[in-house]
Amino acid sequence: MQMIGIKNLYDIKQLTKQNILDIFAKADEYNINRHSNILNNKIVANLFFENSTRTLASFEIAAKNLGANVITLNIATSSVNKGETLQDTVDNIAAMGVDYIIIRHGVAGAIADIAKQNNNYSIISGGDCANQHPSQALLDAYTMQKHFGSLQGLNVVICGDILHSRVAKSNIDLLKNFGVNLTLVAPEVLLPPVQAREDIIKYTTHLDDALFGADVVMCLRVQKERFSDDFTLSIEDYKAKFCLNKARANIISANSIIMHPGPVNRGVEIDSDVIEDKKSKIIEQVSNGVLIRQAILSLVG
Ligand code: CP
Repeated sequence: MQMIGIKNLYDIKQLTKQNILDIFAKADEYNINRHSNILNNKIVANLFFENSTRTLASFEIAAKNLGANVITLNIATSSVNKGETLQDTVDNIAAMGVDYIIIRHGVAGAIADIAKQNNNYSIISGGDCANQHPSQALLDAYTMQKHFGSLQGLNVVICGDILHSRVAKSNIDLLKNFGVNLTLVAPEVLLPPVQAREDIIKYTTHLDDALFGADVVMCLRVQKERFSDDFTLSIEDYKAKFCLNKARANIISANSIIMHPGPVNRGVEIDSDVIEDKKSKIIEQVSNGVLIRQAILSLVG
C-alpha cells in the first residue's frame, strides 16, 4: 500500500494538495468496495473527550471495514474522572499495544502535542476545541468534488459561528488552496477578529446578498458551549438574519448544494424543510465521512 508519508494527522495544513487528491482517490476506491483486510491484526483506539456522534461512529465503522479491531474508551466512566491527564490516558492505552489512536479533545493543540512525540503508533484528530477538524474538512471537500467534479473556482459560502468553529477553520485552510472563492457570513461577533482576516476571503454580515451565485452553502451550528461568560447573542435575531430557510435556499441555483457538518439545530441555522431539500448533501456528507476515514486510515501511518 502506498502511504502519503504522514504518520499523524492533526491539522489539515499538514496535507499537500496532492495528499488530499490521493485521499479522495482512495475514498473513490472504497466507494466501489468498502471492505478490505489492510488493517487486519491492527488495533484502533477511540478516545473522545468531547461529545460526538458522526466522527466517533464513522472512524469506528471505517476501521472495522478495513479489518481492524476497535476499542472505544468510555471517557465518562474512565479514570479521567479520577484526575488522569490526557497524556497519561494516551500512554496507558498505547502501552497495551495499539496502532492508531483517534482523539477528540477540548483543548486546542492538545492532539498535536501528543502527535509530535516520537510515538510507535499514529495519532489522528477527531477535532480539537475550536482549532482543527481535518477529517471533516476532507469529507466536506470530497462531497463538493463528487458533486461538481472539481473544487476549482467554486463559490463557497460558510454561514454561522465561524469564530468558534474548527470545521470552518479546517475547511478554509483546505479550500483556499484549491482555487475556491470563499465568503464567510455571520453576525460581526461570530466572524474572526478583523486583524485575523485574510484578503482572499470575503467577510459579510448579509446572508441574502452572499447567496447570489453561491455553488455551496455550508451552514454551521452556533456553539453556545464555547461562548465566554461575557459573550451575548440574540438567537431570535440570529434566526431572522442567518437561518437558511426555504426562501433563502431558493436563491441559490438548482445545481447548488447545501451542506452542514452536524449536529444540526433545526430552525436556528437551517430549517427542517431545507435539510430535506434535494439540494441538501447533509446525509451524503455523513456517508462520505466513512469513505474518507477509511482512506485516512489506509494512507496515514
Ligand atoms: N461533524 C461532527 O464532527 O459531528 P460530531 O460532533 O457528531 O462528531
